[in-house]
Amino acid sequence: MKAIVVGTGYVGLPHGAICAEYGHEVYAYDINQKRIDAYKSGERKQIERQVNEPGLVPIIKETLGKSLFFTTDISDVIEGTDVIFMCLNTPPMRGGSTDLSYYENAAHHIAGLLAKRTDKRRVVIVNKSTVPIGTARLLQRILAEHGAENVGVASNPEFLAQGKAVEGSRSPDRVVVGADSEQDFKILRHLYNAYVNHVRIRYIETTPETAEAIKYMGNTLLLTYISFWNGVGAKVAESFDNVRMEDLKVGVTADSRISTWGSYVSNGAGGSCFGKDIQSLIYQLNQAGNDTNLLQSVYTINEHQKTYLIDRAVYEAGFNFNNKTVTVLGLAFKKRTNDMRDSAAIKAIESLLAKGVKEIRAYDPLANHEAQTYWLNPENNHLFERITYHDSAEAALKGSDAVYISTDWEEFRSLSNLLKEKITPPYLVIDGRRMIPDYADLTAAGFDYLPVGGQLLRGVVAEPTFSANGVQDEPALV
Ligand code: UGA
Repeated sequence: MKAIVVGTGYVGLPHGAICAEYGHEVYAYDINQKRIDAYKSGERKQIERQVNEPGLVPIIKETLGKSLFFTTDISDVIEGTDVIFMCLNTPPMRGGSTDLSYYENAAHHIAGLLAKRTDKRRVVIVNKSTVPIGTARLLQRILAEHGAENVGVASNPEFLAQGKAVEGSRSPDRVVVGADSEQDFKILRHLYNAYVNHVRIRYIETTPETAEAIKYMGNTLLLTYISFWNGVGAKVAESFDNVRMEDLKVGVTADSRISTWGSYVSNGAGGSCFGKDIQSLIYQLNQAGNDTNLLQSVYTINEHQKTYLIDRAVYEAGFNFNNKTVTVLGLAFKKRTNDMRDSAAIKAIESLLAKGVKEIRAYDPLANHEAQTYWLNPENNHLFERITYHDSAEAALKGSDAVYISTDWEEFRSLSNLLKEKITPPYLVIDGRRMIPDYADLTAAGFDYLPVGGQLLRGVVAEPTFSANGVQDEPALV
């Protein structure tokens, strides 16, 4: 089939590439020339600077110019198109509503082009980005305004998690298609023929509104579950002696009805979706006159989680951040991405700077550049001048008084060796991801350890031994 993908970010690029890999003719369209040039180059570095997804570059290289084409102008390719996927960013606005301006601009542009078609074959416009319930109807109105004929609208939300877009696209749990007519369902069945009647994949056909709601319910429930573990599970382990977080997690999730995913306690869930989607659902439900206490609590718990370890460091460990140097390990919102949207690290860094930290020594395996040029750019906030960036955890640890682990990058699991080799305690390790399984070695070596989901563990300071005359003994030779 011939498809156009409108918007080539984290949703559009992987989706377009996978459709091309499955044999469709795909035109990936974006108004951002720099982006399109990067993709057209076929060069790993350039592509990954725009969208970093494991396994994606080989698919782009394989299909580029054969079944996958990048363009900033679709006026020539609109004729004969079967499906148009809307993959535009829909950022949150103050108060939780959704900014649909990018979406609406693109919809008007496409509706105008469709109205001028000479070929009047059926085309379906499909919303793939997360959009408020009722947006398919808005699209219908825009199409009618321009006089576009024989055009259907559908909702087919994206459920992919970042860092897993390729494997998730090849083997999704479910494909949800919301449309109004059999002819539109048929076109989408044709496009997704690899998934229809699949033995494991649920292929669900429903109304556009239900499909839109499924996406919000899914993301909000996932965040609710994470917040249960952060707001209840972690607090149980932090409040009572001898409760072991890992055992608690295994014991509870051993019930086949309870998911292991989401039970990894953390310094708050970030990313472009969870925070935005829950705020939007709260807004939509409020607009419809509903109470949203549960969702509001979930949101508050998650936001609180992003800075509370820094407060615990002050109140529980008695650590005074004023004039100290703190290493922050991990800037991205989770491992395997350079995406910093709503990353917990941003709030933690802001809190550290507000507490008078002299220097923040930051390291992230992928997101240093993203942080420096955009999220923590000193042009936005002069306090960010106090952040220095380093090429390794080892370099970032130099000369610091404490470390804060923000992202779950695997390499941080071996941090205790590095700390023991390079740092002389007293030193505070704040672990927002429970990345240090051998923390007992760390405390035995004199480090204070403050994890999410655990009590503060003080480093063991070797007591000097004194002989009868009050002179300190020479250490015994072993
Ligand atoms: C999320 C959903 O998982 C996808 O299903 C959805 O399609 C996507 O949003 C979207 O709406 O586009 P994503 O934002 O890529 O995907 O990230 P997740 O892997 O879900 O992680 C979100 C945050 O939760 C991360 O900061 C992660 O570290 C954190 N998390 C995750 C925890 O704190 N604990 C956990 O046990 C799991």
